[in-house]
Amino acid sequence: MALRLLIGNWKMNQTKACTVSLLNQFAQANFFNCEVVLCVPFVFFSLASDFLFGSSIKLGAQNCHHEEFGAYTGSISALMIKEFGCEYVIVGHSECRKYLKEDGNVINKKLQVILKHNLKPILCIGADLHVDLENFESAVLMPLKTELCGIPPDLRSKIVIAFEPNWAINSVHAAPITVVARVVSDIANLFGDSVPPIIYGGSVTSSNALEFLALPNLGGLLLGRASLDFFEFAKIAELFEI
Ligand code: PGA
Repeated sequence: MALRLLIGNWKMNQTKACTVSLLNQFAQANFFNCEVVLCVPFVFFSLASDFLFGSSIKLGAQNCHHEEFGAYTGSISALMIKEFGCEYVIVGHSECRKYLKEDGNVINKKLQVILKHNLKPILCIGADLHVDLENFESAVLMPLKTELCGIPPDLRSKIVIAFEPNWAINSVHAAPITVVARVVSDIANLFGDSVPPIIYGGSVTSSNALEFLALPNLGGLLLGRASLDFFEFAKIAELFEI
């Protein structure tokens, strides 16, 4: 069975000096029980690929443009990140949906271009609403179907689905375990026979990670703040069991 994923999203944090010291800590660590992916800011890609060379840690991007190339000032293409050894790309993070106004149509195009270049998308889905299980179908499952539109089943199974309710991100409260359990099984049902890894993100810490990891069909965790503290990250990694 594939290892479960532990993904760190550093967002727009860290100076160059702090990044060097954090990468140094990660590069010296061994993570045996999970596949570790670090999604670092674009400007630190070169540093990260040098530091992580030879380690089992995979490099990830926090976003990329939905076109392959062209006059898109300030943007980065899937091919550019691939050239730095990047393997994973976050798509549709709630902060990009909110601040960059990314919609389902753009997210669908990004998925297509990322898959075309053999990168692995980490598609974040959540909801603006305070998700209770009543409105989950319209708030999460319907938009997910639109975002996956036109992507054939064999490629869909390569997409990591990250359930990250907006209200749990950068907050003090993670989503209740009952909500995560139900959502993971509802999303899995959408995929039929070839279910992709379905992971959870939103205020995960070393104090609550075990509860999520106890869900047998959860494919891993996505960490924001906890990925900026190597010792906290390593504590969470220790909680994974093969
Ligand atoms: P957080 O961020 O762990 O700081 O809540 C999670 C995320 O944005 O993916």
